[in-house]
Amino acid sequence: MSLYQHFKGTGPSGFGYGSTAEQVTDGLSLQGKTILVTGCNSGLGLEAMRVLALRGARVLGAARTLAKARTACVSVGGQAVPFACELSEPSSVRACVEAVRRGGHRLDALICNAGIMALPKREQAFGVELQLFTNHIGHFILVNGLLDRLAEDGRVVMLSSSAHTMAPKGGILFDDLGAERGYTPWGHYGQSKLANLLFAKELSRRFSGTRKTANAVHPGVIRTNLSRHMPGLANLAFGLVGPLVLKTVAQGAATEVYVAVHPGAATTTGAYFADCNLARPRADADDAALARRLWEVTEQIVAGLPAA
Ligand SMILES: NC(=O)c1ccc[n+]([C@@H]2O[C@H](COP(=O)([O-])OP(=O)(O)OC[C@H]3O[C@@H](n4cnc5c(N)ncnc54)[C@H](OP(=O)(O)O)[C@@H]3O)[C@@H](O)[C@H]2O)c1
Repeated sequence: MSLYQHFKGTGPSGFGYGSTAEQVTDGLSLQGKTILVTGCNSGLGLEAMRVLALRGARVLGAARTLAKARTACVSVGGQAVPFACELSEPSSVRACVEAVRRGGHRLDALICNAGIMALPKREQAFGVELQLFTNHIGHFILVNGLLDRLAEDGRVVMLSSSAHTMAPKGGILFDDLGAERGYTPWGHYGQSKLANLLFAKELSRRFSGTRKTANAVHPGVIRTNLSRHMPGLANLAFGLVGPLVLKTVAQGAATEVYVAVHPGAATTTGAYFADCNLARPRADADDAALARRLWEVTEQIVAGLPAA
């Protein structure tokens, strides 16, 4: 238990900062449920997959390569089926969609957990800044490819971050999606995480009139491989103070798992969660026009990507 957790209680959901993924699923049977988790081989995704499988769900574990996904799936036991899904490579994402469809899986939840953070130098995929492409566009292709496989009460969960507040003023740099005119590791990570929030918002709007939900979460701050690109000193400090003030991986996986399977979140949609409770994102994350514009621009980008 971290020091910080002593000062944080629980919220209306009955859970809070210190809750773990095992605790938020205590007493739940997920037998008969199928849940896809991206980034299943590391950090929060691996823990989420482990706990979902522990509760009886069939988990579809997606990682950059089939070998990584296989190793992760074997490590959690239970019913875990591996898939390759390299989010920065549209052909890999489409192949994952096809493989899931071929398997005949009906999805009760789709947890878009994979992500990269704070790349030190600007990188691009297909002319788009790489964090935006990986964290947002890759998941956009995946989710849209599987929408008709989502159960009637299926849930889509996007891993955002409180770092969405670091996105540039105005939200999304539509006139410079490749970061040609300037790049900052945190500003562009923030933009990608704001995009995750806006995607959930617009998807939720598109789900209106159905029982399907789409939400975004901030998992907390947890020391995982995500910090691999942070400068050495920052990473060292993170490592030293982390155990005192940060969440554990078990706690970090709780919010995504709560939103994906807990009955208490079944009818909440278009929302942002932190510490397993509703939270308030930056004001423009609630901007429906911005969310719709991002969706339409992303559709255009995806339509222009190589077919194979
Ligand atoms: N940890 C935190 O403090 C924190 C805070 C706020 C939000 N988040 C969010 O939580 C999510 C999980 O992060 P984490 O902390 O568990 O980090 P992590 O341990 O680094 O896990 C990230 C996962 O995403 C995968 N991934 C990265 N790039 C990918 C790509 N191009 N295609 C497919 N998969 C890719 C990684 O695969 P490889 O292992 O093969 O690279 C890994 O499985 C992320 O979306 C992150 O933004 C984390």
